[in-house]
Amino acid sequence: MKLYLATGNAHKVKELQEIIAAAKLPIEVFSAKEVGGMPEVVEDQETFTGNALKKGLALAQQLPEGTWALADDSGLCVDCLDGAPGVYSARYAGEKATDTENLNKLLHEMEGLPLEQRSASFQCHLAMVSSSGDEQIFIGQCEGHIIEEACGEGGFGYDPVFVPQGKEKTFAEISSEEKAGLSHRGNALKEMIEFLRNALSAKK
Ligand code: IMP
Repeated sequence: MKLYLATGNAHKVKELQEIIAAAKLPIEVFSAKEVGGMPEVVEDQETFTGNALKKGLALAQQLPEGTWALADDSGLCVDCLDGAPGVYSARYAGEKATDTENLNKLLHEMEGLPLEQRSASFQCHLAMVSSSGDEQIFIGQCEGHIIEEACGEGGFGYDPVFVPQGKEKTFAEISSEEKAGLSHRGNALKEMIEFLRNALSAKK
């Protein structure tokens, strides 16, 4: 089975590739670059699923027959901010904002709040879309809280301020393997891998 990643985000590509490779399924993973690059998609949907499907469908249109696109739409939902930044996570501090600008805006909004008001969750919605338009959605989340100051050099996005439930280190302070075992993306991929394992064994 051939899967093309419908994202230009190098961090997402690395995480998706590593987790799919570890599952040891007969799946070949390619970047969108192999089929002319990820087309420009306006992420204007109100839900993660809506945006993931939009990206998946856009890439699926330029894929060879019999192959699939895999799109990831994800973000951070902070309870005391009514779920913000949510689908706006990548552009919380403005259209072209950097990860650091987004993260600093979040810390500013939450300044002085006690631990019990700092709960948050990462959400990841994966859309698999075939070249003929079949769709499958897989959802994963990871609960945790936002600390007061960025900590750690690894990962991307809001990783330096997010501590998963029951842990003491941020996503930016742990290895990519440990993050994969806990994260929203890891959890969504577990669902997808389970689905593909069943589908591939039913074909035998
Ligand atoms: P998307 O490309 O519209 O899905 O935006 C995803 C945004 O959510 C990223 O730019 C990050 O700001 C944030 N995000 C998603 N997943 C993660 C993660 O695993 N760690 C940190 N930030 C993430």
